[in-house]
Amino acid sequence: MSLLRTPVDQLQPTAVTDGGPVLSVDDLRVTFTRHGRRIHAVKGVSFEVQRGRMLAIIGESGSGKSVTVRALMGLLPPSAQVSGSAVLDGRQLVGMSDKQMRQVRGMKISMIFQDPARSLNPTMSVGAQISEAVRTHQQVSRQQVADRVLELLRLVRMPAPEKRVHQFPHQLSGGMRQRVVIAIALASEPDVLIADEATTALDVTTQAQIMDLLVDLRERLGTAVVMISHDLGLAASYADEVMVMYAGQVVERAPTQTLFSNVRMPYTQALVEAIPQIAHPSHTLLSVVGGHPPDPSHPVQGCPFRPRCARADDDCLAAPPLTMHEPDHAYACWHPVGGPGTPATAGLAVGHRGDMS
Ligand SMILES: Nc1ncnc2c1ncn2[C@@H]1O[C@H](COP(=O)(O)OP(=O)(O)O)[C@@H](O)[C@H]1O
Ligand SMILES: [Mg+2]
Repeated sequence: MSLLRTPVDQLQPTAVTDGGPVLSVDDLRVTFTRHGRRIHAVKGVSFEVQRGRMLAIIGESGSGKSVTVRALMGLLPPSAQVSGSAVLDGRQLVGMSDKQMRQVRGMKISMIFQDPARSLNPTMSVGAQISEAVRTHQQVSRQQVADRVLELLRLVRMPAPEKRVHQFPHQLSGGMRQRVVIAIALASEPDVLIADEATTALDVTTQAQIMDLLVDLRERLGTAVVMISHDLGLAASYADEVMVMYAGQVVERAPTQTLFSNVRMPYTQALVEAIPQIAHPSHTLLSVVGGHPPDPSHPVQGCPFRPRCARADDDCLAAPPLTMHEPDHAYACWHPVGGPGTPATAGLAVGHRGDMS
């Protein structure tokens, strides 16, 4: 669907979910070499994202969430070695040249970051910055660019868009700045929008507004959204599917309702139990689980969570593979918690918007 051809007020909710995954990642691995040491940051991550769906990638700081998506975007430093496969709309992203990647980035796949202030140019007006993004992707007249800028600002539900066009980033609130960043990311009508801790720096109310906006965009435009957060509560509230990462690996993955009604991996369980205790500002990247996340330059033998896990025994010296143990529910654990019919979601508002399927 082209936004240029379809005025925003005529866009209908589409909830496009058919036609297979728009992004398929298979056995993605990222290794850095630093001071002669090899750091295994991402160790064989596989997932799919469907059109019009929101996937949340969650896990503590350092679990490899950002490196995973930066690998997809071709945004890692030259010290990174990437292997595996990531197919976006039939195109293999791994091993793409910088030139090819620049065409894909921003066109088919866009990313928004935690700090909107740093993503924007402080010396350019909002209108000029969005215009630049529009012109990069489309050959259009000046009037069409101006129309499209306003359309994008309305799409991201910017209050008083005509006024904002002439303002500069410092004149906007944090939430409005993040809306501008999202408008820029949407200028090319990407198939996949990645939000890496995009609401972490915002206050709770603004965070909810931006999350509602992302959910709304995935419904109206059919954009697949990959939302990265260390906040399990946020994922529970908004995502269709949740993937939990630990030490560069996926340790549990399921549709949101399924996951939270039956958490199996002790690490996920620990994250769930930690939620009500988080009285800290949401931007403090605290370690919410007892013990320390593993050092990626010193891999743990067997299950990476073993040193912190109360259920660990000698079985766990052999790494449990991520296995689809129940329909739609994969986890990597020899001694899972719970079991069918054991809700682990006390105090957690799962799918508060009531649109989870
Ligand atoms: N450029 C880099 N060079 C070396 N190590 C890196 C680099 N970027 C990230 N890492 C390491 O990769 C691991 C995963 O990082 P990251 O994906 O940023 O975690 P998060 O889950 O918090 O987003 C961390 O141990 C981090 O130190
Ligand atoms: Mg990160």
